[in-house]
Amino acid sequence: MKVKIVGLLGSPHAFGGSGSLLRCALKAAEEEGAQVELCHLYQAPIEPCIGCVQDEEPTCKYPCIFEDYGKELLEKLWQADGYIIASPVYWYGPSGPLKILIDRMTALENMVAFGEPSYVEGKAVGVITVGADAGVTLSGAYLLTVLNAMGAMIPPWAHAYSHRGKEALFDDRAVMDALNVGRLVTRLLRAVRGQAEILRYHEDQEQLERIRQEVLKERETWEAQHVERKTLGKSCA
Ligand SMILES: Cc1cc2nc3c(=O)[nH]c(=O)nc-3n(C[C@H](O)[C@H](O)[C@H](O)COP(=O)(O)O)c2cc1C
Repeated sequence: MKVKIVGLLGSPHAFGGSGSLLRCALKAAEEEGAQVELCHLYQAPIEPCIGCVQDEEPTCKYPCIFEDYGKELLEKLWQADGYIIASPVYWYGPSGPLKILIDRMTALENMVAFGEPSYVEGKAVGVITVGADAGVTLSGAYLLTVLNAMGAMIPPWAHAYSHRGKEALFDDRAVMDALNVGRLVTRLLRAVRGQAEILRYHEDQEQLERIRQEVLKERETWEAQHVERKTLGKSCA
Protein backbone atom coordinates (compact mmCIF):
# COMPACT_ATOMS: atom_id res chain seq x y z
CA MET A 1 0.00 0.00 0.00
CA LYS A 2 1.16 3.51 -0.82
CA VAL A 3 2.12 5.91 1.97
CA LYS A 4 -0.28 8.86 2.18
CA ILE A 5 1.14 12.37 2.35
CA VAL A 6 -0.95 15.49 2.89
CA GLY A 7 0.46 18.80 1.69
CA LEU A 8 -0.80 21.76 3.70
CA LEU A 9 -0.57 25.08 1.88
CA GLY A 10 -0.70 28.04 4.24
CA SER A 11 -0.58 30.75 1.57
CA PRO A 12 -3.45 32.68 0.00
CA HIS A 13 -1.64 32.22 -3.35
CA ALA A 14 -2.12 28.84 -5.01
CA PHE A 15 1.02 29.29 -7.12
CA GLY A 16 3.01 31.77 -5.01
CA GLY A 17 6.44 30.82 -3.65
CA SER A 18 5.28 28.37 -1.00
CA GLY A 19 2.58 26.88 -3.25
CA SER A 20 5.09 26.27 -6.04
CA LEU A 21 7.69 24.67 -3.77
CA LEU A 22 5.02 22.53 -2.10
CA ARG A 23 3.92 21.26 -5.52
CA CYS A 24 7.57 20.36 -6.29
CA ALA A 25 7.89 18.47 -2.99
CA LEU A 26 4.62 16.58 -3.55
CA LYS A 27 5.64 15.62 -7.11
CA ALA A 28 8.94 14.24 -5.78
CA ALA A 29 7.02 12.32 -3.11
CA GLU A 30 4.74 10.89 -5.81
CA GLU A 31 7.77 9.81 -7.82
CA GLU A 32 8.93 7.95 -4.69
CA GLY A 33 5.61 6.09 -4.64
CA ALA A 34 3.52 8.21 -2.26
CA GLN A 35 -0.15 9.04 -2.67
CA VAL A 36 -0.38 12.81 -2.22
CA GLU A 37 -3.07 15.40 -1.64
CA LEU A 38 -2.67 19.17 -1.54
CA CYS A 39 -4.96 21.03 0.86
CA HIS A 40 -5.24 24.79 0.49
CA LEU A 41 -5.89 26.28 3.92
CA TYR A 42 -7.43 29.44 2.49
CA GLN A 43 -10.14 27.58 0.56
CA ALA A 44 -12.61 27.70 3.47
CA PRO A 45 -12.75 29.23 6.95
CA ILE A 46 -11.06 27.46 9.86
CA GLU A 47 -12.44 28.47 13.24
CA PRO A 48 -9.82 29.41 15.83
CA CYS A 49 -9.25 27.04 18.75
CA ILE A 50 -11.29 28.01 21.82
CA GLY A 51 -9.03 26.21 24.33
CA CYS A 52 -11.28 23.33 25.53
CA VAL A 53 -8.07 21.73 26.83
CA GLN A 54 -8.29 24.16 29.75
CA ASP A 55 -11.78 23.08 30.78
CA GLU A 56 -12.11 21.40 34.15
CA GLU A 57 -13.30 18.27 32.40
CA PRO A 58 -10.68 17.51 29.73
CA THR A 59 -12.93 17.93 26.68
CA CYS A 60 -10.28 18.58 24.04
CA LYS A 61 -10.16 15.39 22.01
CA TYR A 62 -10.54 14.11 18.48
CA PRO A 63 -12.90 14.87 16.74
CA CYS A 64 -12.77 18.61 17.44
CA ILE A 65 -16.12 20.25 18.27
CA PHE A 66 -16.20 22.58 15.22
CA GLU A 67 -18.00 21.49 12.05
CA ASP A 68 -15.81 23.31 9.55
CA TYR A 69 -12.95 22.90 7.09
CA GLY A 70 -10.59 22.57 10.07
CA LYS A 71 -12.41 19.41 11.12
CA GLU A 72 -12.07 17.98 7.59
CA LEU A 73 -8.36 18.75 7.67
CA LEU A 74 -7.89 17.11 11.07
CA GLU A 75 -9.50 13.95 9.68
CA LYS A 76 -7.11 13.99 6.73
CA LEU A 77 -4.13 14.55 9.04
CA TRP A 78 -5.17 11.62 11.20
CA GLN A 79 -5.56 9.30 8.19
CA ALA A 80 -2.29 10.39 6.53
CA ASP A 81 1.15 8.88 7.14
CA GLY A 82 3.02 12.14 6.63
CA TYR A 83 2.67 15.87 6.11
CA ILE A 84 4.51 18.47 4.08
CA ILE A 85 3.64 21.90 5.41
CA ALA A 86 4.34 25.01 3.36
CA SER A 87 3.88 28.56 4.52
CA PRO A 88 4.79 32.09 3.58
CA VAL A 89 6.62 33.91 6.34
CA TYR A 90 4.20 36.38 7.91
CA TRP A 91 6.03 38.39 10.51
CA TYR A 92 8.66 35.78 11.36
CA GLY A 93 6.10 32.99 11.66
CA PRO A 94 3.62 30.91 9.67
CA SER A 95 0.48 32.47 8.19
CA GLY A 96 -2.61 32.95 10.37
CA PRO A 97 -4.74 30.05 9.02
CA LEU A 98 -1.81 27.65 9.43
CA LYS A 99 -1.26 28.76 13.03
CA ILE A 100 -4.99 28.30 13.66
CA LEU A 101 -4.85 24.77 12.23
CA ILE A 102 -1.84 23.97 14.41
CA ASP A 103 -3.81 25.07 17.46
CA ARG A 104 -6.73 22.91 16.36
CA MET A 105 -4.34 19.94 16.05
CA THR A 106 -4.33 19.90 19.85
CA ALA A 107 -7.42 17.68 19.42
CA LEU A 108 -5.17 15.06 17.78
CA GLU A 109 -2.27 15.45 20.20
CA ASN A 110 -4.40 15.63 23.35
CA MET A 111 -5.58 12.03 22.89
CA VAL A 112 -2.67 11.29 25.26
CA ALA A 113 -4.93 12.67 28.03
CA PHE A 114 -7.39 9.87 27.19
CA GLY A 115 -4.91 7.00 27.45
CA GLU A 116 -4.21 6.85 23.72
CA PRO A 117 -1.07 7.81 21.81
CA SER A 118 -1.06 11.25 20.18
CA TYR A 119 -2.75 10.91 16.80
CA VAL A 120 0.25 12.76 15.34
CA GLU A 121 2.74 10.24 16.76
CA GLY A 122 4.90 8.64 14.08
CA LYS A 123 3.75 10.88 11.21
CA ALA A 124 6.71 12.03 9.09
CA VAL A 125 6.95 15.77 8.56
CA GLY A 126 8.78 18.12 6.23
CA VAL A 127 8.35 21.89 5.96
CA ILE A 128 8.75 24.65 3.40
CA THR A 129 8.91 28.35 4.23
CA VAL A 130 9.09 31.26 1.81
CA GLY A 131 9.71 34.91 2.58
CA ALA A 132 10.98 38.06 0.98
CA ASP A 133 13.12 39.15 3.89
CA ALA A 134 13.98 37.68 7.32
CA GLY A 135 12.35 34.82 9.25
CA VAL A 136 12.39 31.80 6.93
CA THR A 137 14.59 29.64 9.16
CA LEU A 138 12.80 30.74 12.33
CA SER A 139 9.42 29.84 10.81
CA GLY A 140 10.66 26.45 9.56
CA ALA A 141 12.25 25.65 12.91
CA TYR A 142 9.01 26.62 14.62
CA LEU A 143 6.95 24.27 12.46
CA LEU A 144 9.34 21.34 12.90
CA THR A 145 9.55 21.90 16.65
CA VAL A 146 5.78 22.02 17.10
CA LEU A 147 5.10 18.97 14.97
CA ASN A 148 7.81 17.02 16.77
CA ALA A 149 6.33 18.11 20.11
CA MET A 150 3.07 16.52 18.95
CA GLY A 151 4.91 13.25 18.26
CA ALA A 152 5.81 13.54 14.58
CA MET A 153 9.16 12.33 13.27
CA ILE A 154 11.51 14.39 11.13
CA PRO A 155 13.69 13.01 8.32
CA PRO A 156 17.09 14.45 7.42
CA TRP A 157 16.93 17.61 5.27
CA ALA A 158 13.34 18.29 6.33
CA HIS A 159 13.28 22.03 5.69
CA ALA A 160 13.32 23.82 2.32
CA TYR A 161 13.22 27.60 2.22
CA SER A 162 13.60 30.53 -0.10
CA HIS A 163 13.97 34.27 0.32
CA ARG A 164 12.78 34.87 -3.22
CA GLY A 165 9.09 35.30 -2.44
CA LYS A 166 6.78 34.45 -5.32
CA GLU A 167 9.82 33.73 -7.53
CA ALA A 168 10.87 30.79 -5.32
CA LEU A 169 10.29 28.36 -8.19
CA PHE A 170 13.38 29.89 -9.85
CA ASP A 171 15.53 29.48 -6.75
CA ASP A 172 17.39 26.29 -7.74
CA ARG A 173 18.65 25.51 -4.24
CA ALA A 174 15.17 25.90 -2.76
CA VAL A 175 13.59 23.71 -5.45
CA MET A 176 16.25 21.03 -4.94
CA ASP A 177 15.67 21.20 -1.18
CA ALA A 178 11.90 20.91 -1.71
CA LEU A 179 12.37 17.84 -3.93
CA ASN A 180 14.43 16.31 -1.13
CA VAL A 181 11.78 17.14 1.45
CA GLY A 182 9.23 15.18 -0.61
CA ARG A 183 11.66 12.36 -1.30
CA LEU A 184 12.93 11.95 2.25
CA VAL A 185 9.55 12.22 3.99
CA THR A 186 8.37 9.38 1.73
CA ARG A 187 11.55 7.33 2.19
CA LEU A 188 11.45 7.67 5.97
CA LEU A 189 7.85 6.44 5.98
CA ARG A 190 8.75 3.50 3.77
CA ALA A 191 11.75 2.65 5.96
CA VAL A 192 9.75 2.50 9.19
CA ARG A 193 6.56 1.04 7.76
CA GLY A 194 5.05 -1.56 10.09
CA GLN A 195 7.45 -0.64 12.87
CA ALA A 196 5.53 2.23 14.45
CA GLU A 197 5.52 0.41 17.79
CA ILE A 198 9.26 0.85 18.29
CA LEU A 199 8.85 4.63 18.02
CA ARG A 200 6.17 4.97 20.68
CA TYR A 201 6.61 7.36 23.61
CA HIS A 202 7.41 5.13 26.57
CA GLU A 203 6.40 5.77 30.22
CA ASP A 204 8.52 3.50 32.41
CA GLN A 205 8.60 4.70 36.01
CA GLU A 206 11.01 1.92 37.08
CA GLN A 207 13.52 2.95 34.39
CA LEU A 208 13.17 6.62 35.34
CA GLU A 209 13.98 5.93 39.01
CA ARG A 210 16.78 3.45 38.25
CA ILE A 211 18.56 5.80 35.83
CA ARG A 212 18.07 8.80 38.13
CA GLN A 213 19.79 6.82 40.93
CA GLU A 214 22.65 5.86 38.60
CA VAL A 215 23.19 9.50 37.62
CA LEU A 216 23.00 10.62 41.26
CA LYS A 217 25.66 8.06 42.14
CA GLU A 218 27.87 9.31 39.30
CA ARG A 219 27.31 12.88 40.55
CA GLU A 220 28.37 11.93 44.07
CA THR A 221 31.53 10.26 42.77
CA TRP A 222 32.28 13.28 40.57
CA GLU A 223 31.69 15.73 43.44
CA ALA A 224 33.92 13.71 45.76
CA GLN A 225 36.73 13.77 43.18
CA HIS A 226 36.15 17.44 42.50
CA VAL A 227 36.48 18.36 46.17
CA GLU A 228 39.60 16.20 46.36
CA ARG A 229 41.18 18.02 43.42
CA LYS A 230 40.25 21.41 44.83
CA THR A 231 42.05 20.51 48.04
CA LEU A 232 45.04 19.47 45.98
CA GLY A 233 44.98 22.91 44.33
CA LYS A 234 43.96 21.69 40.85
CA SER A 235 41.59 23.93 38.97
CA CYS A 236 39.12 21.84 36.94
CA ALA A 237 37.73 18.33 36.67
C1 LIG B 1 1.41 40.10 6.45
C2 LIG B 1 2.74 39.79 5.82
C3 LIG B 1 3.85 39.66 6.60
C4 LIG B 1 5.10 39.34 6.04
N1 LIG B 1 6.17 39.17 6.87
C5 LIG B 1 7.33 38.74 6.34
C6 LIG B 1 8.45 38.47 7.21
O1 LIG B 1 8.42 38.61 8.41
N2 LIG B 1 9.58 38.01 6.61
C7 LIG B 1 9.69 37.82 5.27
O2 LIG B 1 10.73 37.35 4.82
N3 LIG B 1 8.66 38.09 4.43
C8 LIG B 1 7.48 38.53 4.94
N4 LIG B 1 6.41 38.77 4.10
C9 LIG B 1 6.56 38.54 2.67
C10 LIG B 1 6.01 37.14 2.24
O3 LIG B 1 6.57 36.12 3.03
C11 LIG B 1 6.35 36.87 0.80
O4 LIG B 1 5.59 37.78 0.03
C12 LIG B 1 6.06 35.46 0.31
O5 LIG B 1 6.39 35.36 -1.04
C13 LIG B 1 4.66 35.04 0.41
O6 LIG B 1 4.60 33.67 0.04
P1 LIG B 1 3.65 33.14 -1.11
O7 LIG B 1 4.23 33.67 -2.38
O8 LIG B 1 3.74 31.67 -1.00
O9 LIG B 1 2.27 33.66 -0.79
C14 LIG B 1 5.19 39.15 4.64
C15 LIG B 1 4.05 39.30 3.83
C16 LIG B 1 2.85 39.63 4.40
C17 LIG B 1 1.64 39.77 3.52
